Amino acid sequence: MRVSHQEFRTGLTYDDVLLVPKYSEIKSRKDVSTTTKFSRNISMSIPIVSANMDTVTESSMAIALARLGGIGVIHRFLPVADQVAEVSKVKRSEGIVIEDPITLLPDRTVGEALEVIRKHDIGGIVVLYADRRVAGLVTRRDIHLEEDLSVKISEVMTPLGNLITAQKGVTMEQAKELLRKNKIEKLPILERDGRLAGLITSKDIVKRRQFPMATKDAKGRLRVAAAIGVKGDYMHRAEKLLEVDVDALVVDIAHGHSANAIDTVKEIRRRLGQVDVVAGNVATSRGTSDLIKAGADAVKVGVGSGSICITRIVTGVGVPQLTAIIDSANAAAENDIPVIADGGVRNPGDVTKSLAAGASTVMIGSLFAGTEESPGPTILREGVRYKLTRGMASLEASIDRKVRDSNGASSKNGLVEEVVEESVPEGVEGLIPYKGKVEEVVRQLVGGLRSGMSYCGAKTITELQRGAEFLRMSEAGLKESRPHDIEKVV
Ligand code: XMP
Repeated sequence: MRVSHQEFRTGLTYDDVLLVPKYSEIKSRKDVSTTTKFSRNISMSIPIVSANMDTVTESSMAIALARLGGIGVIHRFLPVADQVAEVSKVKRSEGIVIEDPITLLPDRTVGEALEVIRKHDIGGIVVLYADRRVAGLVTRRDIHLEEDLSVKISEVMTPLGNLITAQKGVTMEQAKELLRKNKIEKLPILERDGRLAGLITSKDIVKRRQFPMATKDAKGRLRVAAAIGVKGDYMHRAEKLLEVDVDALVVDIAHGHSANAIDTVKEIRRRLGQVDVVAGNVATSRGTSDLIKAGADAVKVGVGSGSICITRIVTGVGVPQLTAIIDSANAAAENDIPVIADGGVRNPGDVTKSLAAGASTVMIGSLFAGTEESPGPTILREGVRYKLTRGMASLEASIDRKVRDSNGASSKNGLVEEVVEESVPEGVEGLIPYKGKVEEVVRQLVGGLRSGMSYCGAKTITELQRGAEFLRMSEAGLKESRPHDIEKVV
């Protein structure tokens, strides 16, 4: 059947619509709950996810976001061991009891201990004999002024005899009291036979108080997701990520409504059943339900919506983001599966609109790329600080991947030429003004959402979705929505 004009639907996006205010009994923004689900088994206090882009999410971003109540998705454009290390840093950053703390043998040197401390960004290391009995504890303070790096740890550590420890089964209250009374930072937990059972740190206890909304697993560790592809080493990558207890795998390809993506989701489900699998990206109800049928625990929605995307321009394909969310969320709701609205969020109000349209969370790329926690240095240009962001399908990202995969086997110039000849980029690279800590950007996004919900009379995200009334805006309406008829000072 050929196309006819009558069949054209209108695709809408954030700037095309507004939410109509509703009667509200909410007295304060604080009375609103932003609790939501990232995936079937992962709940969060705020609906914010950081994008699996190499200029957005590695461990630093994932830790910051999980502490605030969201979650980060570590990108997949790095060797398996490096991605696993990033996930591991998040999982190790805090916990009720660290069950497998970093340890060293007593005959290792101060130099090695300093290296381990630096690499894992920890304050100290439990020293164990080969049979895992505790020998002592060495802290950063014990060794950071040591000039002879070849000295054995056994000579500088606090030996077990002088160490405050607790037996397995100690309650959190008892542990806290031991840490407080003895003014210590680390409390090794011992089995009856003297082997190490775990470690409790005062830092973790303080963090729990400082970040009550944090997204955590049953062991009190921060949650983190990680992206995988659908080709090459994806299954090996997935297995390695699971070994360090990644909380969700995100099967992420540009066209998620494809046999490749569906088969990958099925395969992961079959082989690694216990982990939540998120799949995408799609932009239609059929794409969403096909991924759910394959076993997806959440579906990521957005084709060409990202700020660094040129997919729609280059390929002529895509769906404006609000329509994509409505269509996908309606299909997902039938199975009670959350939808992640990925890309295109430029203002806090877009978060309210996307959730009202049916999404459970929003994934943020460029808005976070300018923050301190995103990977990469800041760049100074004419006195202004910037950070770099780029589409994962941009020419620059493709070149970097090719150079990395060649492991120095070919010259960079040759590889650049190869990529330029072969590739049709669907993303761009650009500078984004430096914004400081991600916490401030999240505060603005969630603050806007809370106010938006209160304007809609909604105490929860479910109420927001049930009562949402959108109206379409004219060009004049959009103009009126922005600051107008004044000279902006900044
Ligand atoms: P924002 O608007 O938050 O969007 O920067 C982030 C999302 O953009 C997607 N992405 C791409 N899409 N070409 C595309 O068409 C690309 O090169 C590209 N890189 C990232 C991705 O879904 C991300 O989460």
